[in-house]
Amino acid sequence: MKNSKEEGTTPKESSWTLNATVLEKIIKISPNRTNSSELIKKTQFDIKKLLKTAEEYFLQGNFIETARIFRTLGRITRNLEYNIEFKGKYSEKNQLNDLTGKEWLRHTKSWMIVDGKPSDLPYEIKDHPASFPPELAKHFIKFFTKKDGWVFDPFMGIGSTLAAAKELNRNCWGIELNSKYANYAKKRIENIENGSNTYYLANDDSHNCKKIFFEQEFPLADLLLTSPPYWNILAESRGGVKSTLKQRVENGYDETYGTDSRDLGNIPQYNQYLGQLISLFINFCKIIKDCGYIVVILQNIRQVDGKMCPLAWEFALKLRELPNVKLKQEFIWLQDQKFMGIWGYPYSYVSNVHHHYCLVFQKCKKRHQVIS
Ligand SMILES: C[S@@+](CC[C@H](N)C(=O)[O-])C[C@H]1O[C@@H](n2cnc3c(N)ncnc32)[C@H](O)[C@@H]1O
Repeated sequence: MKNSKEEGTTPKESSWTLNATVLEKIIKISPNRTNSSELIKKTQFDIKKLLKTAEEYFLQGNFIETARIFRTLGRITRNLEYNIEFKGKYSEKNQLNDLTGKEWLRHTKSWMIVDGKPSDLPYEIKDHPASFPPELAKHFIKFFTKKDGWVFDPFMGIGSTLAAAKELNRNCWGIELNSKYANYAKKRIENIENGSNTYYLANDDSHNCKKIFFEQEFPLADLLLTSPPYWNILAESRGGVKSTLKQRVENGYDETYGTDSRDLGNIPQYNQYLGQLISLFINFCKIIKDCGYIVVILQNIRQVDGKMCPLAWEFALKLRELPNVKLKQEFIWLQDQKFMGIWGYPYSYVSNVHHHYCLVFQKCKKRHQVIS
């Protein structure tokens, strides 16, 4: 096999990156549910060019570049897969969602790769240190609600859950403590043109959820979808000079959610944080309908001393102790495009944690026996 560097014939990386960018833009502007043949028509020319470039790299023995093209193509086609209409039969007996059998099946895989695209986001959105991609929210909203159902996010951030809900013609409401993020979320939701569904954003402490719920006369939610602060992880310095956090600071983006003492990310003791989180969820459960679902996105976190703090696992175990909550499943959100740091080298094992747990619970009608 020839060495591409010696031959000097390596295709320019920029040519395929450009192709990929064009493709991603086409896909991004496509409506939610797109006719697949239309997309094929629009994209086949660029796909052919990308594949040709991949072939050239492959024949030169440049497998790293070949793999990069295929990863990019993978990302693009995944995006297509999540958005195209899957034909199939809809059962009138379906009381949970609006999915056909084929779509239902596709949603039951226990993991999903979703990469946010920070470079495409407006400044305000990038300013928030830990938002999740609306694609991820859409996955759960499509599965756990029907059109016009109700979605609630008590740690709304910049409104990714609400944006996804509005795009999918669901009603939604959320609470966010930091007024800057609540305002970003408001602007973001207002820019989505879809439908006539209700949405409500409260700049408040989620300890006040019941008060807001009664004042606004909302119906019980079909789905609670949220991601609380991962304890104090943002405030704790970790990683080398190139860590994502340090790069954010250099760019002038927020490092933490602020200094408000009501912010769960500012609770100094882990046990106190976990206790408060659970007692908040006891309240949240009261405004979810019987048999409604609760999806909580969390991570096990690494402390500065290198010890792992199994936050996601401990939260799951504690919440399932509530007599009216069942732990149904774990779903893994994978990130494939995140910066890789060589943290522990050459002394100790420090992994690049590029996955999050999406813990799925169901509120049950009757008290059930808790196995402990
Ligand atoms: C992980 S972020 C949520 C990001 C959100 N999922 C998104 O994609 O935009 C957690 C959010 O909870 C907010 N928060 C922390 N404590 C809160 C509280 N007591 N009440 C309401 N919001 C709170 C933080 O300001 C932060 O924006």
